[in-house]
Amino acid sequence: MELEFILNGEAVRMDAPPDMRALDLIRDVLGLTGTKEGCGRGECGACTILVNGVAVNSCLIYAPKLNGKTVMTVEGLARGEKLHPLQKAFLDEGAVQCGYCTPGMLMSAKALLDENTDPTEEEIEEAIGGNICRCTGYVKIIKAVQRAAKEMRDE
Ligand code: FES
Ligand code: FES
Repeated sequence: MELEFILNGEAVRMDAPPDMRALDLIRDVLGLTGTKEGCGRGECGACTILVNGVAVNSCLIYAPKLNGKTVMTVEGLARGEKLHPLQKAFLDEGAVQCGYCTPGMLMSAKALLDENTDPTEEEIEEAIGGNICRCTGYVKIIKAVQRAAKEMRDE
């Protein structure tokens, strides 16, 4: 079926099978491989994207659900060479180890900061509650989100 949506600020028009997962459309058809597949069943958050600003597990929705929506993947965060404050803060705080969870973490954090410019630790924990990280122990990730929030408030 024909789909039209905005992806990382650009209009996309394409055909996709109705039973294709949004994750596969993004990675395999559109070639945006920043979005990761971990569990494939809604448990790890590695595949998180924003759909109309809401963090969504792209492994759980079919591509036609993107029709008419505004979609952002991790590739949409940076502005050219300039990293998004969240990306910079993750690097500066050492919140990235293997990096597999990072795109999903960033997108969940982006959804949070778009709604709440000064989140508490608990609010950050809740926002990334669906994102599993096997490496960092989460403390540095939470610090990074707090740091990015502060930088964005001060901008
Ligand atoms: S791959 Fe989608 S939640 Fe794990
Ligand atoms: S940095 Fe490795 S899973 Fe999070």
